[in-house]
Amino acid sequence: MRVEGTHHRSIWLDEETGALRIIDQTKLPHRFEVRTLADFESVVEAIRTMRVRGAPLIGVTAAHGLALGLSADPGDRALTRMANELVATRPTAVNLHWAVVRLVESVWSLPPEERAAAARARAVALCDEDVACCEAIGTHGLTLLRELAREKSGEPLQILTHCNAGWLATVDWGTALAPIYKAHREGLPVHVWVDETRPRNQGASLTAFELREEGIPHTVIVDNAGGHLMQRGLVDAVLVGSDRTTSTGDVCNKIGTYLKALAADANGVPFFVALPTSTIDWTIDDGLEQIPIEERDAAEVREIVGRTAEGRLERVALFSAASPVANPAFDVTPARYVTRLVTEEGCFEASRPGLAALRATKEADRDGD
Ligand code: MRU
Repeated sequence: MRVEGTHHRSIWLDEETGALRIIDQTKLPHRFEVRTLADFESVVEAIRTMRVRGAPLIGVTAAHGLALGLSADPGDRALTRMANELVATRPTAVNLHWAVVRLVESVWSLPPEERAAAARARAVALCDEDVACCEAIGTHGLTLLRELAREKSGEPLQILTHCNAGWLATVDWGTALAPIYKAHREGLPVHVWVDETRPRNQGASLTAFELREEGIPHTVIVDNAGGHLMQRGLVDAVLVGSDRTTSTGDVCNKIGTYLKALAADANGVPFFVALPTSTIDWTIDDGLEQIPIEERDAAEVREIVGRTAEGRLERVALFSAASPVANPAFDVTPARYVTRLVTEEGCFEASRPGLAALRATKEADRDGD
């Protein structure tokens, strides 16, 4: 997607030097800074501190991290240690585990001297696959938006989104924002209510930035405003992403998503979840019991970073350090509140049979390739 009119991906290899580059998302929206990740350690740091974040992007960044690590030490023991370390950085987003497993599988049987190059090629392929996958999510989600738009007689479709599930959370296109980009490009009028998404403010800082750069009408709201807007008939659909979805359709996503689902249910607003199938954890069937919820640092709640009038980025305290803080980063929305799952394979019911149908479609597509 675009930044100041120029197309960007969120992660890429520099054409001249081959260096791994990312956009430092901790600086957005105030500064667009590109950062080089030169070794395994800098990749781990970037994921842990959320310079890169969003389930699909974390996965492919980890894959590149392993490639970098293997160029320093291609041995079995190093590979196992690095894979474990990466998986532990963000415990909820399952794409991380998915990508690390794929990467390890693709190099394990190779002689050590061939591993780094093979891993790098695989990481590049995973990035390209993510782009194609998110674009397909956009195409399938667009059919749902077109249906809803029919009842709007040309008025903008009002979509509420939470957190950032746009191109910055993936390699390009995004998950929840991909159908919105497609709708806007084909001239379907849309307006997006952007939840600010405390404590890290991915909505206000990243989603609003993305939509602004693409020229899509949007309004930032505090997280508590969604229910009120839905009661007033000002939301036609909620569209969010996912960090892990179970084989029964329970959806784990950024903290606060569950409350939006409850409000949507109470007000008859469709609640759509967009996700690549790499976000599905087929091994579990109960999101509440089985998904580990990442507990993040108290400083994310106590402090906030903003830009001063002079243009400096400054961190300030919001309340006393003497008050204890709880900071669960994700919550689980039970499948019964999810109207549809939008994936690269099409739109499916969030239920055990719905997920089984999705799996069968995916397998049939793979066999057909
Ligand atoms: O903690 P983050 O910023 O990595 O979490 C990302 C989310 O929860 C997003 O909402 C998203 O839907 C998942 S990634 C497309």
